[in-house]
Amino acid sequence: MSSIVSIQDGGKNSQQLAILPPKSGITVKGTITIPGDKSISHRALMLGAIAEGETTIEGLLLGEDPRSTAACFRAMGAEISELNSQKVVVKGLGLGNLQEPENVLDAGNSGTTMRLMLGLLASHPDRFFVVTGDSSLRSRPMTRVVKPLTQMGASIWGRKGNSLAPLAVKGQRLKPTHYHSPIASAQVKSCVLLAGLMVDGKTTVTEPALSRDHSERMLQAFGATLDIDSDTNSVSLTGLPTLKGQKVIVPGDISSAAFWLVAAAIVPGSELLITNVGVNPTRTGVLEALEMMEADIQRENERIVAGEPVADLRVKYSQLKACTISGDIIPRAIDEIPILAVAAAFATGTTVIKDAEELRVKESDRLAVMATELSKMGVNISELADGLEITGGDDKLKGAEVDSHTDHRIAMSLAVAALRAEGQTRIDRAEAASISYPNFVRTLTAVLDG
Ligand code: S3P
Repeated sequence: MSSIVSIQDGGKNSQQLAILPPKSGITVKGTITIPGDKSISHRALMLGAIAEGETTIEGLLLGEDPRSTAACFRAMGAEISELNSQKVVVKGLGLGNLQEPENVLDAGNSGTTMRLMLGLLASHPDRFFVVTGDSSLRSRPMTRVVKPLTQMGASIWGRKGNSLAPLAVKGQRLKPTHYHSPIASAQVKSCVLLAGLMVDGKTTVTEPALSRDHSERMLQAFGATLDIDSDTNSVSLTGLPTLKGQKVIVPGDISSAAFWLVAAAIVPGSELLITNVGVNPTRTGVLEALEMMEADIQRENERIVAGEPVADLRVKYSQLKACTISGDIIPRAIDEIPILAVAAAFATGTTVIKDAEELRVKESDRLAVMATELSKMGVNISELADGLEITGGDDKLKGAEVDSHTDHRIAMSLAVAALRAEGQTRIDRAEAASISYPNFVRTLTAVLDG
């Protein structure tokens, strides 16, 4: 590795990532690319599997989560070539033709796999499915998708009043519905829309604030008819479309770029260019939040690639200022709150993050975990019922032994915090990063070498 970054055996098949910035300091420099967008990767595999003909996917994320999706759809009969980031070929089965798998479908750590897939399973009549996941996923709430699916006529059973996986599904012919979701969740919206594909009639979802719209874009690209009302955050899908295989080009994941945006923003003397980043407006809350904090970030070479906006992002160090992150921006920055908490630790004043209670039911309780772990590094941080309050400044943190709680975004956020800590930081169970960012440590080493 390098004198700054090393990986040690953490016992019990886990890895400890150690980061020791030299006393003279480091800078974050260079030009990097980031792995493919996780949300778009899942959707490309799923829509490819249920469309007619061939779908090719360029730039697929090779993390553990899309691997779980690919394994589930292979088990239901879709032919998916070996996963690589150049070109993956999916031979689709055509709508309604997912086969009953011989075994339990395992979504691993991936909430997106489980929740989106449930919409498809519930709407395949006369087939029986069981879905499960790892211990984190088995503790995450599924009522949010079981409820609208049940409203459409689905038959789903699970632990704790059908709220927890493993879940058993007996596919049914579903009926049209208008679901008013109490939460702004792309997973809920996408689950209902995917179920609506097999419904004779219209399926509508209204959400309280706009969540990521990758499903809407990709469903339209594959041939579905959608009506989108942006005044009411409603989307209607007309059922029984003919979906045709497409060429999907997956942009870099802004949620992965976020770690480097903050790394360069907080380490004095840094300048970094991150190329090919997806900048879909439903995902750019992290850019808006960093702009409020007066970070120096420029968008260059803005373009549209396969229906998704893409840009290169240039970021330079600047002294950050505290801000309030709340309301509609939260769903657009939902996965970036942990790394924004790290940015806040280096922003002068008190940053308040509110309306973010959804973070409590992610891969870990990200509010509690960030408060606990950043406190160990000397950050003045407290937990609110629905957010965090962080008083930051220009001081270095202190190196400490911290834990990812097996959550990928926590592991990477703590690694970025360690770049401005005095002494060594050791991150337990850091292998979690491979869920969404298999080469995270390699890129970390590269940007520090400049
Ligand atoms: C995702 C939606 C978000 C996000 C998750 C991926 C998706 O979850 O946190 O990492 O691909 O639809 P919610 O929609 O539940 O907020």
